Amino acid sequence: AKNCKMPVAVHFDHGKTEEKITEALELGFTSVMFDGSHLPFEQNAAETAKINSIAKRFNADCEGEIGCVGGSEDGSENIAVNCTSPVQALEFYKATGVDALAVAIGNAHGNYKQAPKLRFDILEETAGLVPVPLVLHGGTGIPEPDFIRAIQCGMNKINVGTELKYACSQTARACMAAKPNEIDIRKLVGDNRKACREIVLHKIDLFGSAGKAHNEF
Ligand code: 13P
Repeated sequence: AKNCKMPVAVHFDHGKTEEKITEALELGFTSVMFDGSHLPFEQNAAETAKINSIAKRFNADCEGEIGCVGGSEDGSENIAVNCTSPVQALEFYKATGVDALAVAIGNAHGNYKQAPKLRFDILEETAGLVPVPLVLHGGTGIPEPDFIRAIQCGMNKINVGTELKYACSQTARACMAAKPNEIDIRKLVGDNRKACREIVLHKIDLFGSAGKAHNEF
Protein backbone atom coordinates (compact mmCIF):
# COMPACT_ATOMS: atom_id res chain seq x y z
CA ALA A 1 0.00 0.00 0.00
CA LYS A 2 2.84 2.39 0.81
CA ASN A 3 4.33 1.91 -2.66
CA CYS A 4 1.04 2.37 -4.50
CA LYS A 5 0.53 5.67 -6.31
CA MET A 6 -3.16 5.70 -5.41
CA PRO A 7 -4.57 6.11 -1.91
CA VAL A 8 -5.06 2.63 -0.45
CA ALA A 9 -6.99 1.66 2.66
CA VAL A 10 -5.78 -1.50 4.37
CA HIS A 11 -8.80 -2.73 6.28
CA PHE A 12 -8.87 -5.33 9.07
CA ASP A 13 -12.28 -6.94 8.62
CA HIS A 14 -14.42 -8.62 11.30
CA GLY A 15 -12.09 -8.08 14.25
CA LYS A 16 -13.51 -9.91 17.23
CA THR A 17 -11.18 -8.95 20.08
CA GLU A 18 -9.48 -5.78 21.31
CA GLU A 19 -6.18 -7.67 21.36
CA LYS A 20 -6.31 -8.66 17.67
CA ILE A 21 -7.55 -5.25 16.56
CA THR A 22 -4.78 -3.48 18.50
CA GLU A 23 -2.25 -5.83 16.90
CA ALA A 24 -3.67 -4.93 13.46
CA LEU A 25 -3.41 -1.21 14.23
CA GLU A 26 0.17 -1.63 15.41
CA LEU A 27 0.94 -3.38 12.12
CA GLY A 28 -0.33 -0.35 10.21
CA PHE A 29 -3.89 -1.19 9.15
CA THR A 30 -5.58 2.11 8.29
CA SER A 31 -9.05 0.89 9.14
CA VAL A 32 -10.47 -1.75 11.46
CA MET A 33 -13.85 -3.35 11.92
CA PHE A 34 -15.15 -4.50 15.27
CA ASP A 35 -17.90 -7.02 14.68
CA GLY A 36 -20.02 -7.09 17.81
CA SER A 37 -23.24 -7.74 15.91
CA HIS A 38 -23.83 -10.99 17.83
CA LEU A 39 -23.76 -9.12 21.15
CA PRO A 40 -26.69 -7.40 22.88
CA PHE A 41 -27.06 -3.77 21.70
CA GLU A 42 -25.60 -2.12 24.82
CA GLN A 43 -22.55 -4.37 24.87
CA ASN A 44 -21.97 -4.04 21.12
CA ALA A 45 -22.16 -0.23 21.43
CA ALA A 46 -19.85 -0.08 24.48
CA GLU A 47 -17.21 -2.39 22.97
CA THR A 48 -17.37 -0.69 19.55
CA ALA A 49 -16.96 2.74 21.20
CA LYS A 50 -13.85 1.47 22.99
CA ILE A 51 -12.36 0.05 19.77
CA ASN A 52 -13.16 3.31 17.99
CA SER A 53 -11.21 5.30 20.56
CA ILE A 54 -8.26 2.89 20.23
CA ALA A 55 -8.39 3.23 16.42
CA LYS A 56 -8.37 7.02 16.73
CA ARG A 57 -5.09 6.85 18.70
CA PHE A 58 -3.62 5.26 15.56
CA ASN A 59 -5.34 7.76 13.27
CA ALA A 60 -7.32 4.87 11.79
CA ASP A 61 -11.00 4.50 10.90
CA CYS A 62 -13.36 2.17 12.68
CA GLU A 63 -16.33 0.26 11.23
CA GLY A 64 -19.04 -1.23 13.45
CA GLU A 65 -21.97 -3.51 12.71
CA ILE A 66 -25.55 -3.36 13.84
CA GLY A 67 -28.10 -6.04 13.01
CA CYS A 68 -26.94 -9.48 11.99
CA VAL A 69 -25.60 -10.36 8.52
CA GLY A 70 -26.39 -14.01 7.72
CA GLY A 71 -24.03 -16.82 6.69
CA SER A 72 -20.49 -16.76 8.10
CA GLU A 73 -17.09 -15.57 6.94
CA ASP A 74 -15.87 -19.10 6.11
CA GLY A 75 -19.25 -20.26 4.81
CA SER A 76 -19.49 -22.94 7.52
CA GLU A 77 -22.45 -21.47 9.39
CA ASN A 78 -25.85 -20.29 8.35
CA ILE A 79 -26.51 -17.49 10.81
CA ALA A 80 -30.01 -16.05 10.40
CA VAL A 81 -30.29 -12.52 9.06
CA ASN A 82 -31.58 -10.03 11.60
CA CYS A 83 -32.29 -6.79 9.76
CA THR A 84 -30.95 -3.53 11.17
CA SER A 85 -33.44 -1.18 12.79
CA PRO A 86 -32.79 2.32 11.34
CA VAL A 87 -33.53 3.99 14.68
CA GLN A 88 -31.15 1.65 16.52
CA ALA A 89 -28.52 2.28 13.84
CA LEU A 90 -28.67 6.01 14.61
CA GLU A 91 -28.50 5.31 18.36
CA PHE A 92 -25.51 3.04 17.73
CA TYR A 93 -23.74 5.68 15.67
CA LYS A 94 -24.30 8.30 18.38
CA ALA A 95 -23.06 5.94 21.11
CA THR A 96 -19.92 4.82 19.25
CA GLY A 97 -18.86 7.57 16.82
CA VAL A 98 -17.88 4.96 14.21
CA ASP A 99 -16.65 6.12 10.80
CA ALA A 100 -18.63 3.49 8.89
CA LEU A 101 -21.52 1.22 9.75
CA ALA A 102 -22.24 -2.26 8.41
CA VAL A 103 -25.97 -2.95 8.19
CA ALA A 104 -28.04 -6.09 7.73
CA ILE A 105 -30.69 -5.71 5.04
CA GLY A 106 -31.15 -9.35 4.01
CA ASN A 107 -27.51 -9.86 2.97
CA ALA A 108 -25.39 -12.86 4.04
CA HIS A 109 -21.76 -13.94 3.84
CA GLY A 110 -20.78 -16.80 1.51
CA ASN A 111 -22.83 -18.20 -1.38
CA TYR A 112 -26.56 -17.48 -1.29
CA LYS A 113 -28.79 -20.53 -1.59
CA GLN A 114 -31.25 -18.32 -3.43
CA ALA A 115 -30.98 -14.73 -4.62
CA PRO A 116 -31.29 -12.44 -1.57
CA LYS A 117 -34.23 -10.10 -1.19
CA LEU A 118 -32.57 -6.94 -0.02
CA ARG A 119 -34.63 -4.54 2.11
CA PHE A 120 -34.03 -1.31 0.21
CA ASP A 121 -36.65 0.41 2.38
CA ILE A 122 -34.60 -0.25 5.52
CA LEU A 123 -31.43 0.85 3.73
CA GLU A 124 -32.97 4.12 2.54
CA GLU A 125 -34.34 4.95 5.97
CA THR A 126 -31.02 4.13 7.66
CA ALA A 127 -29.04 6.16 5.12
CA GLY A 128 -31.36 9.12 5.79
CA LEU A 129 -30.65 8.96 9.53
CA VAL A 130 -27.02 7.89 9.90
CA PRO A 131 -24.45 10.47 8.71
CA VAL A 132 -21.55 8.05 8.09
CA PRO A 133 -20.95 5.62 5.17
CA LEU A 134 -23.00 2.41 5.27
CA VAL A 135 -21.38 -0.93 4.44
CA LEU A 136 -22.85 -3.93 2.62
CA HIS A 137 -21.23 -7.23 3.58
CA GLY A 138 -21.85 -10.47 1.70
CA GLY A 139 -21.45 -9.01 -1.80
CA THR A 140 -20.96 -12.39 -3.50
CA GLY A 141 -24.09 -13.45 -5.37
CA ILE A 142 -25.99 -10.18 -5.08
CA PRO A 143 -27.52 -9.53 -8.54
CA GLU A 144 -25.92 -6.59 -10.36
CA PRO A 145 -29.11 -4.47 -10.54
CA ASP A 146 -29.44 -4.84 -6.75
CA PHE A 147 -25.94 -3.44 -6.24
CA ILE A 148 -26.89 -0.41 -8.31
CA ARG A 149 -30.15 0.07 -6.43
CA ALA A 150 -28.37 -0.32 -3.09
CA ILE A 151 -25.88 2.39 -4.08
CA GLN A 152 -28.76 4.66 -5.17
CA CYS A 153 -30.44 4.02 -1.80
CA GLY A 154 -27.32 5.15 0.09
CA MET A 155 -24.88 2.23 0.32
CA ASN A 156 -21.28 3.47 0.29
CA LYS A 157 -18.95 0.48 0.70
CA ILE A 158 -19.44 -3.05 -0.59
CA ASN A 159 -17.51 -6.12 0.56
CA VAL A 160 -16.95 -8.98 -1.89
CA GLY A 161 -14.93 -11.97 -0.69
CA THR A 162 -16.18 -15.43 -1.65
CA GLU A 163 -16.34 -14.58 -5.37
CA LEU A 164 -12.63 -13.68 -5.34
CA LYS A 165 -11.62 -16.72 -3.28
CA TYR A 166 -13.56 -18.94 -5.69
CA ALA A 167 -11.92 -17.43 -8.79
CA CYS A 168 -8.51 -17.73 -7.17
CA SER A 169 -8.88 -21.38 -6.14
CA GLN A 170 -10.57 -22.46 -9.38
CA THR A 171 -7.73 -20.94 -11.42
CA ALA A 172 -5.17 -22.77 -9.28
CA ARG A 173 -7.11 -26.04 -9.54
CA ALA A 174 -7.27 -25.83 -13.34
CA CYS A 175 -3.56 -25.06 -13.49
CA MET A 176 -2.67 -28.00 -11.24
CA ALA A 177 -4.76 -30.34 -13.38
CA ALA A 178 -3.02 -29.07 -16.52
CA LYS A 179 0.49 -29.52 -15.06
CA PRO A 180 0.51 -32.87 -13.24
CA ASN A 181 4.32 -33.10 -13.26
CA GLU A 182 5.08 -29.58 -12.03
CA ILE A 183 6.44 -29.55 -8.48
CA ASP A 184 7.08 -25.81 -8.02
CA ILE A 185 4.06 -24.52 -6.10
CA ARG A 186 4.66 -21.00 -7.46
CA LYS A 187 4.00 -22.31 -10.95
CA LEU A 188 0.90 -24.22 -9.93
CA VAL A 189 -1.33 -21.33 -8.92
CA GLY A 190 -1.64 -20.09 -12.51
CA ASP A 191 -3.01 -16.65 -13.26
CA ASN A 192 -5.00 -16.48 -10.05
CA ARG A 193 -4.13 -12.84 -9.40
CA LYS A 194 -5.27 -11.96 -12.90
CA ALA A 195 -8.56 -13.78 -12.32
CA CYS A 196 -9.14 -11.73 -9.16
CA ARG A 197 -8.03 -8.51 -10.82
CA GLU A 198 -10.59 -8.93 -13.60
CA ILE A 199 -13.41 -9.35 -11.11
CA VAL A 200 -12.27 -6.36 -9.08
CA LEU A 201 -12.00 -4.17 -12.20
CA HIS A 202 -15.54 -5.10 -13.16
CA LYS A 203 -16.85 -4.34 -9.67
CA ILE A 204 -15.08 -0.95 -9.62
CA ASP A 205 -16.89 -0.09 -12.85
CA LEU A 206 -20.22 -1.51 -11.76
CA PHE A 207 -20.16 0.31 -8.43
CA GLY A 208 -19.41 3.62 -10.19
CA SER A 209 -16.05 3.92 -8.41
CA ALA A 210 -13.82 4.21 -11.49
CA GLY A 211 -11.77 7.38 -11.51
CA LYS A 212 -13.01 8.49 -8.09
CA ALA A 213 -9.86 7.96 -6.00
CA HIS A 214 -7.98 11.16 -5.41
CA ASN A 215 -4.58 11.60 -3.90
CA GLU A 216 -4.99 13.82 -0.92
CA PHE A 217 -3.05 11.65 1.53
P1 13P B 1 -18.82 -12.55 0.70
O1 13P B 1 -17.71 -13.52 0.96
O2 13P B 1 -20.16 -13.17 0.85
O3 13P B 1 -18.64 -11.84 -0.61
O4 13P B 1 -18.73 -11.46 1.85
C1 13P B 1 -17.53 -10.81 2.10
C2 13P B 1 -17.64 -9.92 3.26
O5 13P B 1 -18.68 -9.38 3.56
C3 13P B 1 -16.43 -9.72 4.05
O6 13P B 1 -16.67 -8.94 5.16
